[in-house]
Amino acid sequence: MQKKWWHGKIAYQIYPKSFMDSNGDGIGDLKGIMSRLPYLKHLGVDIIWISPIYVSPFVDQGYDVADYQNIDPIFGSMADFDELLAKTKALGMDIIMDLVVNHCSSEHQWFKKACADLNSKEAGYFYFVKGRNGGAPDNLRSYFGGSVWDKIPGHENEDLYYLHYFAKQQPDLNWSNPALREEIYKMVNWWLDKGIAGFRIDAIHSVMKDLSFPGLPADDIDGLCHASKMNAKMFSKLGIYLSELRDRTFKPHDAFTVGEAFSPSKEVLEAFIGDDGYFSTLFDLSCREVIEAAPSYMEYKKLTVKQFRDCIFGTQQMYNGIGMSAPIIENHDEPRGVSYFMPPYLNNAEGAKAIATVLMLLRGIPFIYQGQEIGMTNTRFDSIDEHEDLFAHDEYNKAKARGWSDADALAICNEHGRDNARTPMLWDDSENAGFTTGKPWMKLHQDHKTLNVKAQYHDENSVFNYYRALIALRKSKEHFDCLTWGAFEPVSVNDAVIAYKRLGESETILVVVNTAKEPLVYETEAEGTLLLSCNEASCTGRTLTLGCGGGAVLSFKK
Ligand code: GLC
Ligand code: CA
Repeated sequence: MQKKWWHGKIAYQIYPKSFMDSNGDGIGDLKGIMSRLPYLKHLGVDIIWISPIYVSPFVDQGYDVADYQNIDPIFGSMADFDELLAKTKALGMDIIMDLVVNHCSSEHQWFKKACADLNSKEAGYFYFVKGRNGGAPDNLRSYFGGSVWDKIPGHENEDLYYLHYFAKQQPDLNWSNPALREEIYKMVNWWLDKGIAGFRIDAIHSVMKDLSFPGLPADDIDGLCHASKMNAKMFSKLGIYLSELRDRTFKPHDAFTVGEAFSPSKEVLEAFIGDDGYFSTLFDLSCREVIEAAPSYMEYKKLTVKQFRDCIFGTQQMYNGIGMSAPIIENHDEPRGVSYFMPPYLNNAEGAKAIATVLMLLRGIPFIYQGQEIGMTNTRFDSIDEHEDLFAHDEYNKAKARGWSDADALAICNEHGRDNARTPMLWDDSENAGFTTGKPWMKLHQDHKTLNVKAQYHDENSVFNYYRALIALRKSKEHFDCLTWGAFEPVSVNDAVIAYKRLGESETILVVVNTAKEPLVYETEAEGTLLLSCNEASCTGRTLTLGCGGGAVLSFKK
């Protein structure tokens, strides 16, 4: 494997609406991010991914882009962005933007022009397709519920539909049209020329369509089939577009790119993230894939620790020797990792440290999602009205339509909802958690008085300082090579223990985390050096003793 500039880096995701508000309107913004750059630096972050800040009607919280080359006024201006970029670089960090090009917003000029004139150049940027048998062209279900097809606005009386894999307000862009692809390359290069380091690439597994729109056998009682199943079918063909995107944009800029793509198989991995891959890396979304194989929140099931571990380990083993993965335990699309993947008795600071130990020493570029570094848990929502996410509302209504009670329908949204991770960042114990001087756009996490950055910043035993220690360990001169390039090897103990090795040239690092209530006594093969531990784990000679949530990291020199 070739060595790349971004190997060994630590990334951090900012959800801009909820990170830091600078002007009291209750919504996070670019000046707010600027004010917190020293905080990110202190944590040890190298690369900052900012979720979409482009002009948007925010139907899907900015993942519906109305103008790719302007900043939405709620976040500030392009001048603010330039200042943010300069300040970030001055601190030795980089910014990557969110590239949302499977679809745009129905408010984008392209879509407006396309609807106004079906013979325009812009009409060719979308999938405008004739109906079939008096209905939609096929039976795919959108990611946010209902058919992926709707009548073209202004042409409701015609037998003509446009495609949207996500919300109605997110029309899919037609990648089979070279003119559309040119527009995208131009825009991507414009951002890269500005000096951003690269992109997180949204929903990129969705861009390859079967232009005969054949549909798929129904997977639920609505007679529809989830669009993700069509994506899986088309996955092997994605390279046709992605290689061109790489050659025209990312490669000449030596950009760092991380793709959101589900189901990469071993066969295609080299093409995706090998030395000359389409992307630098891909998120490890394997846990979510298992959960989201079910058609709706009603059937979603949380993973056991063993399932969680098997997902992560499967990905790690697949990437060994081919390229780097981007391990995550949470992002803006998932509940908080500590609430979702740890047993209920570890839905706390101990669990946050345990899961951090697992995540931060895996092979790849770990991504930390804002608030994860202080151990934020799921938010308690008391009514569906407190959920802002359109996806949760759709799932709620679906459950209600199937006879579920309000309480039960709310419970599944609270357990699986994306808003769990989208509530404002908790900076201090003041009224609005130091996030804003106004009224936060979204509910504050229930524990904000005690669970916040201020309470943890100077506390040696805090989750925050444990994250700092893990990052410092990864970056330490002595262990950098092993923790960056060392192969991953699973270690089997029992179903409640997550243990693995990193095999470096001059050392092996062993990571052991116990998630059972019962203590674990574990004998290592040789006597090692304890590099870091959490939750009172201890090591004497070859004997490791790990209580509930205990984690230990040991080095064995060769
Ligand atoms: C990605 C984003 C998600 C968004 C969707 C549509 O999955 O992470 O937040 O809703 O794409 O853009
Ligand atoms: Ca603001």
